[in-house]
Amino acid sequence: MDETSPDSNLWSHLWNVLIALVATAAAYYIPLTEVSGFMGTGSASTVEGLLTVLFGLDLAVRLRRSRELPAAKQRGARFGLALDLLAAIPFFLLPGGELLRLLRLLKLYRVGQGMGRLGHLHIVHGTVLRLTFFLYWLALGLHWIACGWIELIGGASPGATQAAYVDAFYWTTSTITTVGYGDIVPVTMGQKVYGIGVMMLGVDIYAYLIGNIASLISSLDPVRARYMEQRERLSAFMQYRALPTPLRRRIQRYFDYVWEERLVSDESEVMQSLPPSLREEVALFLKRDLIKNVPLFDAASDAFVRDVALNLESFVALPGDFVVRIGETGREMFFLSRGEVEVVAGDGTILNTLSDGDFFGEIALFLDQPRTASVRAITACDLYELDKPMFERIVSTYPDVAGTLEAEARLRYGVDIELSED
Ligand code: CMP
Repeated sequence: MDETSPDSNLWSHLWNVLIALVATAAAYYIPLTEVSGFMGTGSASTVEGLLTVLFGLDLAVRLRRSRELPAAKQRGARFGLALDLLAAIPFFLLPGGELLRLLRLLKLYRVGQGMGRLGHLHIVHGTVLRLTFFLYWLALGLHWIACGWIELIGGASPGATQAAYVDAFYWTTSTITTVGYGDIVPVTMGQKVYGIGVMMLGVDIYAYLIGNIASLISSLDPVRARYMEQRERLSAFMQYRALPTPLRRRIQRYFDYVWEERLVSDESEVMQSLPPSLREEVALFLKRDLIKNVPLFDAASDAFVRDVALNLESFVALPGDFVVRIGETGREMFFLSRGEVEVVAGDGTILNTLSDGDFFGEIALFLDQPRTASVRAITACDLYELDKPMFERIVSTYPDVAGTLEAEARLRYGVDIELSED
């Protein structure tokens, strides 16, 4: 973050943007005026005067802001302030201070600082921002190197400034990008040494650019990248463990379903990454529709709905999957958020079909007995499960809900199922 102060108000942001723009313009203008014979000196003093005023004002603003900082941070802010001071001094007034005018470029430190702050705040677009900032510095760098090249080949004749600049920029760009057409070649020793330096720099820049573009592309769709990685890991595992083909196909189908529906395969993992207050809000939001659909919850209090929502675990079942098998010990009951399941008796008869908003698996929990039927998914289903301890807690805390649940079960599954009275 900024060493001087957290820029909280709009004006201070606007001021920072203005200073960044002025510093950038100065970073283009001053090196050009340094190239001998390249620009007239007519407007130079006006521009220099303006820069002195603006940078001086900025120094005053930052000094004031830094005084409000704790002592430890003030020390850190001193470096930036020293650079601000050097950039604000009107060296152009000093005899022979021509070259010292380049110290104005130190103001770019604040531009870099602003970029760092932006990158920190907008972490999601980190790579795009990094590339944009890189292009900014690259353009500035090319300009400076082009200015150096003009100076090296003896400056430009006053009439041919534009052409000389375009030539120099062209040479710089083709050398930095490692294209190197070779139509403009260094001749003197100084030009050759300069050329070597620029070529070395070009290799570094090229590597940085390629690396960043690769990371940009892979970070464009992190969900897809994660899905692909999971799939790869899974196929390696299935191959290594020699899983039977039908099982492999089912696993594959599960992954495809999760991907197509853009679901998160492990919702609880995402939820765990949130602080408790947000987790509760998200859980309530996600399960609101489900809870609204379940007739059982119609008359239930808000406290109950909240309690249930926070204790439901989500999972996916694919067509043909058995969610419950007859005769098994029941450790949880289920709510069907989306999809269709069929209730299958021991002899294979279909007893019933349940759909969105229905629940099942409550009998084993109520009666403490094995499952009375199997439940098989007909379509891909989004389900929520409520485990036995939670079920028991809810039944004892909310007796009216327990009553409705029991009555519902009695109604739905007929008189042949005797429910306990506890
Ligand atoms: P449980 O016995 O725990 O596990 C199987 C579940 O299937 C059972 O609870 C009920 O929720 C459900 N079930 C059993 N019989 C029927 C039926 N005739 N109609 C609808 N659902 C049923």
